[in-house]
Amino acid sequence: MLEVHNLHQYYGGSHILRNVSVKAEIGKITVLLGRNGVGKTTLLKSLMGLVPIKSGRIEWQGHDIARKTPYERARSGIGYVPQGREIFSRLSVEDNLRMGLSYCPARTRIPGELYELFPVLKQMLHRRGGDLSGGQQQQLAIARALAPRPQILILDEPTEGIQPSIIKDIGRVIRMLADRGDMAILLCEQYYDFAEELADYYVVMERGEVIAAGPGNEMQQKGIRKLVAI
Ligand SMILES: Nc1ncnc2c1ncn2[C@@H]1O[C@H](COP(=O)(O)OP(=O)(O)OP(=O)(O)O)[C@@H](O)[C@H]1O
Ligand SMILES: [Mg+2]
Repeated sequence: MLEVHNLHQYYGGSHILRNVSVKAEIGKITVLLGRNGVGKTTLLKSLMGLVPIKSGRIEWQGHDIARKTPYERARSGIGYVPQGREIFSRLSVEDNLRMGLSYCPARTRIPGELYELFPVLKQMLHRRGGDLSGGQQQQLAIARALAPRPQILILDEPTEGIQPSIIKDIGRVIRMLADRGDMAILLCEQYYDFAEELADYYVVMERGEVIAAGPGNEMQQKGIRKLVAI
C-alpha cells in the first residue's frame, strides 16, 4: 500500500502541493481528480522522485521512500505511466516494452500476458512507436509500465486525447488489474465519467490541496462532478 502524508512541494517560490495526503491500497482503484494545473502531475512526479519534495512522508509497503531515487522507486515495484505517454517513437513496440524491463535482471522476458491485455501490441510488435495512434501509444505506455510486474500502477490522465473505444478497453484493463488483488492503482484523471466508473476511492485536488475524498460509490451523492467540471 502507498501512503502519502502531508506533502509539500515548491517550484521555485511557488507553493504547488500543500499538505497533500493520499492513499492507494492493493486491489483498489484510487482516482485523483482535479482541473488543469491543480498539481496532479506534480504529485505523481513527487511520488516517483522526479521532483524533490520539501516535506512530508511517502510510504510504500511500510517504508519511507521519499529520499529514494526514481530508479530505486521503480525497482521497488512502482509502475508509472506519464502524462503524454512518453513512448520512444523511433523504437519498435517490442523495444519500447523492453525499456520497461531496463532495471530487471538481464534476459528478463516481456510477459506474454501483456499481449493478452493489449492484443494490438502483438500485431504491431515490429512497428515504430511513432507509427501508432494516440490510443495505441497509450496502451503501449501502460504495457511498458506493467512489464516489470509492479505492485502499484500510477497513471497520469490515460484518456487524454484518446478515442472512446480505446478508453473503454483501457478502463477494462485497469479494473481487471485491480480485481486480481495484487496491485494498487492510482489513476489521475480529468474525465469525470471514466473516473467515477472506476473509482473505489476518490480524491479531489484544487490549487495544490486535497479538497474532498471518500469512497467511489459516494461521488454522485457528494456532487463531485461539479468540482471538476470545466
Ligand atoms: N517545471 C515547472 N516549473 C514551474 N512550475 C511548474 C512546473 N510544472 C508545473 N508547474 C506549475 O505547477 C502547477 C501544477 O502543475 P501540474 O502539471 O502538476 O498540474 P496538473 O494538475 O497535472 O495539470 P493538467 O491537468 O493540465 O495536467 C501549475 O500551476 C503549473 O503551471
Ligand atoms: Mg498533469
